[in-house]
Amino acid sequence: MKSIINHYPGHMAKAKRQITEELKNIDIVYEVIDARIPYSSKIKDINNLIKNKERILIMTKKDLCDLKITNKWQKYYEDKGYNVLIVDLKNNNDYKKIIELTHKITKSIQNKRLEKGLKEKEIKALVMGIPNVGKSTLINQIIGRKVASVENRPEVTKNLVYLKTKVGITLLDTPGILWPKFDEEVIALNIAATGGIKKEILNIDEVAVYILSFLSKNYPSILEEKYGIINYDVIDMYEVIAKKIGAFKNNEVQYERVSLKVYNDIVKEVIKGITFDREDLM
Ligand code: G4P
Repeated sequence: MKSIINHYPGHMAKAKRQITEELKNIDIVYEVIDARIPYSSKIKDINNLIKNKERILIMTKKDLCDLKITNKWQKYYEDKGYNVLIVDLKNNNDYKKIIELTHKITKSIQNKRLEKGLKEKEIKALVMGIPNVGKSTLINQIIGRKVASVENRPEVTKNLVYLKTKVGITLLDTPGILWPKFDEEVIALNIAATGGIKKEILNIDEVAVYILSFLSKNYPSILEEKYGIINYDVIDMYEVIAKKIGAFKNNEVQYERVSLKVYNDIVKEVIKGITFDREDLM
Protein backbone atom coordinates (compact mmCIF):
# COMPACT_ATOMS: atom_id res chain seq x y z
CA MET A 1 0.00 0.00 0.00
CA LYS A 2 2.74 2.44 0.87
CA SER A 3 4.25 2.23 -2.60
CA ILE A 4 1.32 4.09 -4.17
CA ILE A 5 2.44 7.44 -2.86
CA ASN A 6 6.01 7.30 -4.00
CA HIS A 7 4.86 8.74 -7.31
CA TYR A 8 3.84 12.10 -5.93
CA PRO A 9 6.56 13.78 -3.85
CA GLY A 10 6.99 16.50 -6.50
CA HIS A 11 3.32 17.46 -6.34
CA MET A 12 3.43 17.70 -2.59
CA ALA A 13 6.54 19.89 -2.66
CA LYS A 14 4.98 22.20 -5.24
CA ALA A 15 1.76 22.53 -3.27
CA LYS A 16 3.66 23.37 -0.10
CA ARG A 17 5.74 25.99 -1.89
CA GLN A 18 2.66 27.66 -3.38
CA ILE A 19 0.82 27.68 -0.06
CA THR A 20 3.80 29.14 1.78
CA GLU A 21 4.07 31.94 -0.79
CA GLU A 22 0.36 32.72 -0.68
CA LEU A 23 -0.21 32.44 3.07
CA LYS A 24 0.44 36.11 3.78
CA ASN A 25 -2.68 37.00 1.78
CA ILE A 26 -4.90 34.46 3.53
CA ASP A 27 -7.21 35.33 6.45
CA ILE A 28 -8.47 31.86 7.29
CA VAL A 29 -7.77 28.24 6.34
CA TYR A 30 -10.51 25.68 5.75
CA GLU A 31 -8.89 22.37 6.57
CA VAL A 32 -11.22 19.80 5.04
CA ILE A 33 -11.17 16.23 6.33
CA ASP A 34 -13.50 13.21 6.05
CA ALA A 35 -15.62 12.58 9.19
CA ARG A 36 -15.06 8.82 8.78
CA ILE A 37 -11.30 9.27 9.02
CA PRO A 38 -10.73 12.38 11.16
CA TYR A 39 -7.15 11.32 11.86
CA SER A 40 -6.13 9.58 8.64
CA SER A 41 -7.36 12.31 6.29
CA LYS A 42 -5.41 15.10 7.92
CA ILE A 43 -2.62 16.60 5.85
CA LYS A 44 0.85 15.70 6.96
CA ASP A 45 2.59 18.62 8.63
CA ILE A 46 -0.33 21.00 8.16
CA ASN A 47 0.51 22.93 11.31
CA ASN A 48 4.00 23.70 10.02
CA LEU A 49 2.48 24.76 6.75
CA ILE A 50 -0.21 27.14 7.96
CA LYS A 51 1.51 28.24 11.16
CA ASN A 52 -0.82 30.32 13.35
CA LYS A 53 -3.44 31.16 10.72
CA GLU A 54 -7.04 31.05 11.86
CA ARG A 55 -8.54 27.75 10.80
CA ILE A 56 -11.80 25.89 10.65
CA LEU A 57 -11.44 22.13 10.69
CA ILE A 58 -14.30 20.98 8.49
CA MET A 59 -15.29 17.33 8.78
CA THR A 60 -17.38 16.44 5.72
CA LYS A 61 -19.55 13.38 5.07
CA LYS A 62 -21.35 13.59 8.39
CA ASP A 63 -24.09 11.46 6.80
CA LEU A 64 -21.62 8.59 6.29
CA CYS A 65 -19.81 8.58 9.64
CA ASP A 66 -20.48 7.07 13.05
CA LEU A 67 -21.33 10.26 14.91
CA LYS A 68 -20.69 8.72 18.31
CA ILE A 69 -17.02 8.29 17.42
CA THR A 70 -16.66 11.36 15.22
CA ASN A 71 -18.09 13.59 17.96
CA LYS A 72 -15.24 12.39 20.16
CA TRP A 73 -12.80 13.49 17.50
CA GLN A 74 -14.53 16.84 17.37
CA LYS A 75 -13.97 17.23 21.10
CA TYR A 76 -10.38 16.01 20.75
CA TYR A 77 -9.62 18.72 18.19
CA GLU A 78 -11.59 21.39 20.05
CA ASP A 79 -9.51 20.64 23.12
CA LYS A 80 -6.47 21.46 20.98
CA GLY A 81 -8.05 24.85 20.31
CA TYR A 82 -9.43 24.27 16.80
CA ASN A 83 -12.77 25.49 15.49
CA VAL A 84 -14.51 22.34 14.28
CA LEU A 85 -17.61 21.81 12.14
CA ILE A 86 -19.07 18.45 11.14
CA VAL A 87 -21.05 18.89 7.93
CA ASP A 88 -23.09 16.95 5.42
CA LEU A 89 -22.45 18.67 2.11
CA LYS A 90 -24.59 16.30 0.11
CA ASN A 91 -28.01 16.41 1.69
CA ASN A 92 -28.45 19.82 3.24
CA ASN A 93 -27.24 23.39 3.63
CA ASP A 94 -24.55 22.82 6.23
CA TYR A 95 -22.16 24.95 4.18
CA LYS A 96 -23.96 28.01 5.58
CA LYS A 97 -22.53 27.18 9.00
CA ILE A 98 -19.06 27.55 7.50
CA ILE A 99 -19.87 31.01 6.15
CA GLU A 100 -21.32 32.07 9.50
CA LEU A 101 -18.35 30.82 11.49
CA THR A 102 -15.91 32.44 9.06
CA HIS A 103 -17.45 35.85 9.62
CA LYS A 104 -17.52 35.31 13.36
CA ILE A 105 -13.84 34.34 13.49
CA THR A 106 -12.72 37.18 11.23
CA LYS A 107 -14.84 39.81 12.99
CA SER A 108 -11.76 41.23 14.72
CA ILE A 109 -10.01 41.78 11.37
CA GLN A 110 -13.05 43.70 10.12
CA ASN A 111 -13.41 45.68 13.34
CA LYS A 112 -9.80 46.83 13.13
CA ARG A 113 -10.43 48.05 9.61
CA LEU A 114 -13.60 49.88 10.61
CA GLU A 115 -11.75 51.57 13.49
CA LYS A 116 -9.21 52.85 10.97
CA GLY A 117 -12.00 54.19 8.79
CA LEU A 118 -11.53 51.48 6.17
CA LYS A 119 -14.41 49.42 4.80
CA GLU A 120 -14.79 45.72 5.46
CA LYS A 121 -12.62 43.49 3.29
CA GLU A 122 -13.33 40.31 1.38
CA ILE A 123 -12.14 37.49 3.59
CA LYS A 124 -9.66 35.24 1.81
CA ALA A 125 -10.07 31.57 2.71
CA LEU A 126 -7.66 28.86 1.62
CA VAL A 127 -9.32 25.47 1.12
CA MET A 128 -6.97 22.61 1.94
CA GLY A 129 -7.32 18.88 2.12
CA ILE A 130 -6.23 15.59 0.67
CA PRO A 131 -8.10 14.29 -2.43
CA ASN A 132 -11.75 13.20 -2.15
CA VAL A 133 -12.60 14.89 1.15
CA GLY A 134 -15.13 17.24 -0.48
CA LYS A 135 -13.17 20.40 -1.28
CA SER A 136 -14.77 20.96 -4.69
CA THR A 137 -18.24 20.22 -3.35
CA LEU A 138 -17.70 22.77 -0.60
CA ILE A 139 -16.37 25.41 -2.99
CA ASN A 140 -19.28 24.90 -5.38
CA GLN A 141 -21.79 25.27 -2.57
CA ILE A 142 -20.30 28.45 -1.15
CA ILE A 143 -20.09 29.94 -4.62
CA GLY A 144 -23.60 28.76 -5.45
CA ARG A 145 -22.73 27.20 -8.77
CA LYS A 146 -20.41 24.60 -10.15
CA VAL A 147 -17.01 26.14 -10.83
CA ALA A 148 -14.35 23.76 -9.65
CA SER A 149 -14.28 20.46 -11.42
CA VAL A 150 -15.27 17.70 -9.03
CA GLU A 151 -12.21 15.62 -9.68
CA ASN A 152 -10.89 13.17 -7.16
CA ARG A 153 -8.05 11.65 -9.10
CA PRO A 154 -4.94 12.07 -6.98
CA GLU A 155 -2.54 12.84 -9.82
CA VAL A 156 -4.35 15.94 -11.07
CA THR A 157 -2.58 19.12 -10.09
CA LYS A 158 -4.64 22.22 -9.65
CA ASN A 159 -3.21 25.71 -10.05
CA LEU A 160 -3.69 28.68 -7.80
CA VAL A 161 -7.11 30.26 -8.43
CA TYR A 162 -9.03 32.79 -6.37
CA LEU A 163 -12.78 32.29 -6.61
CA LYS A 164 -15.21 35.10 -5.81
CA THR A 165 -18.42 34.42 -3.93
CA LYS A 166 -21.43 36.54 -2.99
CA VAL A 167 -20.95 36.07 0.74
CA GLY A 168 -17.94 38.30 1.45
CA ILE A 169 -15.46 35.45 1.13
CA THR A 170 -12.98 34.79 -1.66
CA LEU A 171 -11.88 31.18 -1.85
CA LEU A 172 -8.48 29.90 -2.84
CA ASP A 173 -8.67 26.36 -4.13
CA THR A 174 -5.95 23.99 -2.98
CA PRO A 175 -2.92 24.57 -5.12
CA GLY A 176 -1.71 21.11 -6.01
CA ILE A 177 -2.18 17.87 -4.21
CA LEU A 178 -1.59 17.37 -0.54
CA TRP A 179 -1.13 14.05 1.16
CA PRO A 180 -1.70 12.69 4.64
CA LYS A 181 0.76 10.90 6.91
CA PHE A 182 1.10 7.88 4.64
CA ASP A 183 3.95 6.50 6.73
CA GLU A 184 1.47 4.45 8.76
CA GLU A 185 0.00 1.63 6.71
CA VAL A 186 -3.39 1.83 8.42
CA ILE A 187 -3.72 5.41 7.20
CA ALA A 188 -3.22 4.34 3.60
CA LEU A 189 -5.80 1.60 4.08
CA ASN A 190 -8.31 4.00 5.63
CA ILE A 191 -7.94 6.44 2.75
CA ALA A 192 -8.25 3.61 0.24
CA ALA A 193 -11.30 2.14 2.00
CA THR A 194 -13.12 5.47 1.84
CA GLY A 195 -12.42 6.02 -1.86
CA GLY A 196 -9.53 8.46 -1.64
CA ILE A 197 -7.20 6.52 -3.92
CA LYS A 198 -7.91 5.69 -7.55
CA LYS A 199 -9.34 2.19 -7.78
CA GLU A 200 -7.06 1.29 -10.68
CA ILE A 201 -3.91 1.47 -8.56
CA LEU A 202 -5.35 -0.29 -5.52
CA ASN A 203 -4.97 -3.86 -4.43
CA ILE A 204 -8.72 -4.32 -3.98
CA ASP A 205 -8.35 -7.68 -2.18
CA GLU A 206 -6.11 -6.08 0.42
CA VAL A 207 -8.50 -3.20 0.95
CA ALA A 208 -11.56 -5.50 1.13
CA VAL A 209 -9.93 -7.83 3.66
CA TYR A 210 -9.07 -4.77 5.70
CA ILE A 211 -12.67 -3.50 5.51
CA LEU A 212 -14.16 -6.87 6.48
CA SER A 213 -11.79 -7.29 9.42
CA PHE A 214 -12.49 -3.74 10.54
CA LEU A 215 -16.26 -4.21 10.34
CA SER A 216 -16.17 -7.54 12.14
CA LYS A 217 -14.26 -5.94 14.99
CA ASN A 218 -16.19 -2.68 15.24
CA TYR A 219 -19.53 -3.04 13.46
CA PRO A 220 -20.53 -6.73 13.40
CA SER A 221 -24.20 -5.78 13.17
CA ILE A 222 -23.55 -4.10 9.80
CA LEU A 223 -21.99 -7.31 8.46
CA GLU A 224 -24.99 -9.29 9.62
CA GLU A 225 -27.52 -6.84 8.26
CA LYS A 226 -25.89 -6.25 4.85
CA TYR A 227 -24.48 -9.67 4.08
CA GLY A 228 -25.97 -12.09 6.64
CA ILE A 229 -22.49 -12.70 8.06
CA ILE A 230 -22.38 -14.17 11.54
CA ASN A 231 -19.02 -15.96 11.44
CA TYR A 232 -16.11 -13.58 11.24
CA ASP A 233 -13.40 -15.74 9.73
CA VAL A 234 -12.34 -13.83 6.58
CA ILE A 235 -12.55 -16.84 4.25
CA ASP A 236 -16.00 -17.66 5.59
CA MET A 237 -17.07 -14.07 5.07
CA TYR A 238 -15.96 -14.25 1.42
CA GLU A 239 -18.04 -17.41 0.94
CA VAL A 240 -21.16 -15.92 2.48
CA ILE A 241 -20.90 -12.79 0.33
CA ALA A 242 -20.11 -14.87 -2.77
CA LYS A 243 -23.32 -16.84 -2.20
CA LYS A 244 -25.28 -13.66 -1.74
CA ILE A 245 -24.11 -12.11 -5.02
CA GLY A 246 -23.64 -15.32 -7.01
CA ALA A 247 -19.86 -14.94 -7.30
CA PHE A 248 -18.91 -18.54 -8.04
CA LYS A 249 -17.18 -20.06 -11.07
CA ASN A 250 -16.74 -23.83 -11.33
CA ASN A 251 -17.76 -24.03 -7.68
CA GLU A 252 -14.90 -21.68 -6.69
CA VAL A 253 -15.44 -18.35 -4.96
CA GLN A 254 -14.58 -15.44 -7.27
CA TYR A 255 -12.60 -13.58 -4.65
CA GLU A 256 -12.00 -10.46 -6.70
CA ARG A 257 -15.69 -9.98 -7.36
CA VAL A 258 -16.42 -10.25 -3.67
CA SER A 259 -13.64 -7.81 -2.83
CA LEU A 260 -14.98 -5.33 -5.34
CA LYS A 261 -18.49 -5.66 -3.92
CA VAL A 262 -17.25 -4.90 -0.39
CA TYR A 263 -15.16 -1.95 -1.57
CA ASN A 264 -18.00 -0.54 -3.69
CA ASP A 265 -20.51 -0.88 -0.88
CA ILE A 266 -18.49 1.62 1.12
CA VAL A 267 -17.53 3.94 -1.70
CA LYS A 268 -21.07 3.97 -3.15
CA GLU A 269 -22.48 4.68 0.31
CA VAL A 270 -24.41 1.41 0.73
CA ILE A 271 -22.56 0.92 4.02
CA LYS A 272 -22.59 4.01 6.22
CA GLY A 273 -22.51 4.98 9.86
CA ILE A 274 -18.89 3.97 10.24
CA THR A 275 -15.79 5.81 11.45
CA PHE A 276 -12.50 4.08 10.73
CA ASP A 277 -10.28 6.13 13.01
CA ARG A 278 -10.93 4.95 16.55
CA GLU A 279 -10.27 6.43 19.95
CA ASP A 280 -6.97 4.59 20.37
CA LEU A 281 -5.45 7.06 17.88
CA MET A 282 -6.30 10.07 20.03
P1 G4P B 1 -12.23 16.83 -3.48
O1 G4P B 1 -12.48 18.09 -4.24
O2 G4P B 1 -11.70 17.10 -2.11
O3 G4P B 1 -11.38 15.84 -4.21
O4 G4P B 1 -13.64 16.11 -3.21
P2 G4P B 1 -15.03 16.26 -4.02
O5 G4P B 1 -15.68 17.55 -3.70
O6 G4P B 1 -14.78 15.90 -5.43
O7 G4P B 1 -15.88 15.12 -3.29
C1 G4P B 1 -15.54 13.76 -3.41
C2 G4P B 1 -16.79 12.93 -3.30
O8 G4P B 1 -17.36 13.08 -1.99
C3 G4P B 1 -17.90 13.35 -4.26
O9 G4P B 1 -18.59 12.16 -4.65
C4 G4P B 1 -18.82 14.20 -3.40
O10 G4P B 1 -20.14 14.22 -3.86
C5 G4P B 1 -18.73 13.44 -2.10
N1 G4P B 1 -19.07 14.27 -0.92
C6 G4P B 1 -18.55 15.46 -0.55
N2 G4P B 1 -19.09 15.87 0.61
C7 G4P B 1 -19.97 14.91 0.99
C8 G4P B 1 -20.84 14.75 2.13
O11 G4P B 1 -20.91 15.58 3.06
N3 G4P B 1 -21.58 13.60 2.16
C9 G4P B 1 -21.52 12.66 1.19
N4 G4P B 1 -22.28 11.57 1.31
N5 G4P B 1 -20.72 12.78 0.11
C10 G4P B 1 -19.95 13.90 0.02
P3 G4P B 1 -18.44 11.55 -6.10
O12 G4P B 1 -19.26 10.33 -6.11
O13 G4P B 1 -16.97 11.44 -6.42
O14 G4P B 1 -19.01 12.65 -7.02
P4 G4P B 1 -20.54 13.07 -7.26
O15 G4P B 1 -21.04 12.07 -8.25
O16 G4P B 1 -21.28 12.99 -5.93
O17 G4P B 1 -20.45 14.45 -7.78
